[in-house]
Amino acid sequence: MNVQASPIVPTLPGRFYASPELYRREQERIFAQLWTCVGLAAALPQAGDYLTTEVAGEPILVVRGQDGQLRAFLNVCRHRGARLCTEPCGRLESRVIQCPYHAWSYALDGRLIGAPNMRDAEGFSPSAYGLLPVALAVWEGMIWVNLASDPPPVESQLLPRVVERLGDPAIFRRYGIGELRIGATVTYDVAANWKLVVENFMECYHCAVVHPELSQLVPSFRAGYAYQHGVGATFAEGVETLTLTGKRTRPLLPGLRPEDDRTYYGMVLLPNVFVNLHPDYVLIHRLEPLDVGRTRIVCDWLFAPDVVESPDFDPSDAVDFWDLVNRQDWAMCERCQASMHSRAYAEGGIFAPIESHIRRFNDWVLAQLGEDA
Ligand code: FES
Ligand code: FE
Repeated sequence: MNVQASPIVPTLPGRFYASPELYRREQERIFAQLWTCVGLAAALPQAGDYLTTEVAGEPILVVRGQDGQLRAFLNVCRHRGARLCTEPCGRLESRVIQCPYHAWSYALDGRLIGAPNMRDAEGFSPSAYGLLPVALAVWEGMIWVNLASDPPPVESQLLPRVVERLGDPAIFRRYGIGELRIGATVTYDVAANWKLVVENFMECYHCAVVHPELSQLVPSFRAGYAYQHGVGATFAEGVETLTLTGKRTRPLLPGLRPEDDRTYYGMVLLPNVFVNLHPDYVLIHRLEPLDVGRTRIVCDWLFAPDVVESPDFDPSDAVDFWDLVNRQDWAMCERCQASMHSRAYAEGGIFAPIESHIRRFNDWVLAQLGEDA
């Protein structure tokens, strides 16, 4: 479909947001094939720090080794399949991953290092029963995993998105996301398909109606322009960053230039990350599809290390602002999800010209699923 040729283009039909079968295919063809973000490296600073998650139905364990390396494994004991770690995150003080069932023990690099009463078992070779590794890459401070057996480099998936959005990837790098620290985290459980959340983030047609506070700070948002209007969004006169007051209480992020001081950049890194760049902080939204109509969204607010470490550090101006905007967005996503199965939406709807770029995302989804646009 040539989205340039017509100002009015169709959305995806409702079944793409409501059909468990299409959801299952997305899991197989998108989340089991592509690099998917599972968290931030800054959340696991020490050896033994771990997080658990699921990608495309597979249980994943990410753990920092004694050598400082992050590694990902299938979170499944090789003995009889018990789930190894069950908390969302934590620290293995013993520096050993021990299965609670029969006490098989794995080093942080996945090697099987203990299996009670197995020493004399004929034909048993511990080296054949290490944890099964999953490809992992840290890119700009984000931990990406890939379930495919021989995935391409993570940059080949992500860098083109940055270039498409900003033109020059140097702008993105100036924010130094990998050097920042987490100042606050908020997790949302949203009753909407993950694609509705992505589509909502990509347009600002709704901003004047849904986000009065945000629209006041960013005039181009009030006018409805998001992705299609140059690169960054310039703040209104007197506005210094995106907080409830529009004022900035922190210095510019260390790598920024003076000309970056009055601009917000938002971008989607498919399949599951939104990056929001502000002069003094970065907000990362990470989507975890839980079901066809349910998405967990984890937001991390990142700041310069010395800012987070200062005794009077208070991220609430940035957190409260985006928490408000987020909840406004999630309410609209849920409102749409509630109608996706309706016969009224069997053929879908249409995009206004100002949001028609979303169709490129829809066509990308169809291409991943092997469907015709
Ligand atoms: Fe893990 Fe038996 S299932 S040790
Ligand atoms: Fe919004």
